Amino acid sequence: MKIALIGNGAIAKLVSQFCASHPTLNIVGALGLPTDTTSVGEHPVVQTLPALLAFKPDLVVECAGHSAVEAYAAPVLEAGIDLVLVSTGSLADETLWKKVSAAAARSTAKVRLVAGALPGVDALSAGKLAGLTKVTLQSSKPPKAWSGTPAEKTHDLANITQRTVIFSGNAREAALTFPKNANVAATAALAGLGFEATTVMLVADPAVTQNVHHLQAEGAFGTLDLKIHANPSPDNPKTSHMAALSIMRVLENEATAIVV
Ligand SMILES: NC(=O)c1ccc[n+]([C@@H]2O[C@H](COP(=O)([O-])OP(=O)(O)OC[C@H]3O[C@@H](n4cnc5c(N)ncnc54)[C@H](O)[C@@H]3O)[C@@H](O)[C@H]2O)c1
Repeated sequence: MKIALIGNGAIAKLVSQFCASHPTLNIVGALGLPTDTTSVGEHPVVQTLPALLAFKPDLVVECAGHSAVEAYAAPVLEAGIDLVLVSTGSLADETLWKKVSAAAARSTAKVRLVAGALPGVDALSAGKLAGLTKVTLQSSKPPKAWSGTPAEKTHDLANITQRTVIFSGNAREAALTFPKNANVAATAALAGLGFEATTVMLVADPAVTQNVHHLQAEGAFGTLDLKIHANPSPDNPKTSHMAALSIMRVLENEATAIVV
């Protein structure tokens, strides 16, 4: 299977290493910013979508960020090529959601949202079929992991000594306000009760060393209570290693006859 990446960073590197040792998954090229001059793998890096599509990929994997979803998701789908998205928080933007949905509806191609660092996406989306009544997500990270986010303006991150809630609200507000840190909240919303009805708490906690996501849900199926302590990606401490692993899982499922 010929795979093209959008992105040339930490996730792209792990995905390309995985594909390099896989018998049937072949990365044919990646699309990056003009600053992405050196490839993170053996494949070439290009700077335009037509140049990427010239590699004739069977599947495009986005691992770049919200601006890349905005720029490239709809044209990839309109070209009839399936798209795997990791920057799920971008879909909290209603205009972009409509644009991507309309492009997918006009095409035979599908968008696959990866679970990323969120545990229990399978149970949440299955439970939704019987009706969910409550979904909450609490994401805790070390205080310094919130640097470069709006929390910097509201909290003295360097001097937080106890567990501090830096945001409380719904998944849409979380994803739009913390675009680089609330992809998991958006995935919970998309799998479950939607952006407005999913409650999100973002926490700076000096007692944690990993990214801890605690998902709780209730519905006709019963109750769900899952917590993941996710290790950071080797090349990007802000990205959980699970983000790349969940893309690999989707690719592995594309390549195998028995899908788990
Ligand atoms: N769903 C999840 O749980 C989850 C978890 C972590 C990260 N993510 C998403 O994955 C993205 C990538 O993570 P990473 O750790 O690899 O980041 P990174 O910063 O290491 O790499 C991002 C790469 O994308 C490129 N890029 C950025 N904007 C682009 C654009 N508009 N067009 C083309 N290339 C562009 C950058 O130049 C860089 O090569 C994050 O921005 C985030 O949105 C999702």
